[in-house]
Amino acid sequence: SNPSLLILPGDGIGPEVMAEVRKIIDWFGAKRGIAFDVSEDLVGGAAYDKHGTPLHDDTMAKAQEVDAVLLGAVGGPKYDVLDFSVKPERGLLRLRKEMDLFANLRPAQCFDALADFSSLKKDVVAGLDIMIVRELTSGIYFGEPRGIIEEGNERVGINTQRYTESEIDRVARSAFELAMKRGKKLCSMEKANVMESGILWREVVTEVAKDYPEVELSHMYADAGAMQLCRWPKQFDVIVTDNLFGDLLSDAAAMLTGSLGMLPSASLGAPMANGRPKALYEPVHGSAPDIAGQAKANPCACILSFAMALRYSFDLGAEATRLEAAVEKVLADGVRTADLLNEEGITPATTSEMGDAVVAALEAS
Ligand code: NAI
Ligand code: MG
Repeated sequence: SNPSLLILPGDGIGPEVMAEVRKIIDWFGAKRGIAFDVSEDLVGGAAYDKHGTPLHDDTMAKAQEVDAVLLGAVGGPKYDVLDFSVKPERGLLRLRKEMDLFANLRPAQCFDALADFSSLKKDVVAGLDIMIVRELTSGIYFGEPRGIIEEGNERVGINTQRYTESEIDRVARSAFELAMKRGKKLCSMEKANVMESGILWREVVTEVAKDYPEVELSHMYADAGAMQLCRWPKQFDVIVTDNLFGDLLSDAAAMLTGSLGMLPSASLGAPMANGRPKALYEPVHGSAPDIAGQAKANPCACILSFAMALRYSFDLGAEATRLEAAVEKVLADGVRTADLLNEEGITPATTSEMGDAVVAALEAS
């Protein structure tokens, strides 16, 4: 049977950018004979409006069954007044938690055509293509004890950095698997010089490396890593790091490359019975209420998220590369949504013009 894909467009510009991905999925079916069983459902505010919950149990069950989930974005001012328990973000959090998506993949990829857009020197970022794997379900954001307690005559804020060997092992394996599909180079970042969890992290990653002799493993203290990411990011291929350091490093790396409208992501869990990891793909950006409904949204982040699904869930790496090249071609041709233009007087492409241009570039490839 065909690989299955659950599409959750969500709110704001989510449905607008997802409509462009649908064009691409249709193209792969019609022109490449690569068909997916696609189902679509509600998440976030859209689900709340219909069901009174940001993620219906049936949708959750479907997400557990499919080969991959592709999500647009959730949230919007209309829902800001809602109780925390039914806020749109809770739908997304429930998906991540119940699918146990412990490895968050954030590529920092700089298309040559956008190298001028980066805040760094062109030669530092042009052609950049690295991947940060951030542990997503443990570490200091979840560790116990936590809280604000009274001690003597003042209060103390407490968080605990805590990693079990198995938590480190599984995210390390995800990173090595990725490295095998990419440049076979992995850099692990922690602070083993000052943190116990860092010492254990380094030990476990070194142990896992024995199962991946083809991958060249290096270790770096995370602060030095931050420096190296800004100085010469092209020295890296895959980086694996914990939840806290990964949060900071992936946001910093993202800004090497330009617009929020270009950034895809994937969150992976344990392998399913068919060997594929549980997977949720989504753009890094949110629902962008300031431009929703105006045909201004850049669909590339969502399109590139689908490219990640092709590569990491469906073993269609060559097709993923083809799609990424199509996006690159469109940018080089100067077809750009407003977020990718800084000169006045150029008419920006609409969301659907951008999607159509990517399909045309695929067709020509
Ligand atoms: P945002 O990412 O939605 O927007 C930030 C800025 O970037 C805005 O000016 C927006 O117009 C622009 N932008 C974002 N994506 C773009 C695209 N594809 N093309 C062109 N411009 C784009 O973040 P913001 O404004 O902080 O949050 C808006 C809503 O989205 C909130 O309700 C927030 O909770 C939600 N959100 C949802 C996320 C998700 O679904 N994963 C992630 C981040 C925020
Ligand atoms: Mg962050």
